[in-house]
Amino acid sequence: MIGSMGVLSASMAKASVTNFLSSMSATADVLALAKVEIGLASIPEGKNVIIKWRGKPVFIRHRTADEIEEAKNVDIKTLRDPETDEARTKSPEWLVMLGVCTHLGCVPIGESGDFGGWFCPCHGSHYDISGRIRKGPAPLNLEPVAS
Ligand code: FES
Repeated sequence: MIGSMGVLSASMAKASVTNFLSSMSATADVLALAKVEIGLASIPEGKNVIIKWRGKPVFIRHRTADEIEEAKNVDIKTLRDPETDEARTKSPEWLVMLGVCTHLGCVPIGESGDFGGWFCPCHGSHYDISGRIRKGPAPLNLEPVAS
């Protein structure tokens, strides 16, 4: 019983990521090239994984309830690139975004920086737990894959 529930939740998680990724694809042939299957059940809460998709890093974070609350409680009027957390995720516990700094394209480091999200060491951009730019030279938020 417990084993079959694990399989079911893993299947649902895979379907969610496929939906995230398919929302970015314009055509069926592009979708076929872009198909990625990830076992989200293997990503513990509070951890990141990085996958490669179309030659670029994609960050997937399994966010905790506290992280989701923190991301939702930010006053977007204070942000350089105002965007709600809800607009950046389809399912709040899964944050999926391109791992490319919007300044000059470095790959930020997870679980670091002044805002509990990502830090780009190239020139010092800090992103929050929703991937929104909070400090440093980057002009825009990390690009969500699910929007
Ligand atoms: S490339 Fe990330 S801060 Fe410049």
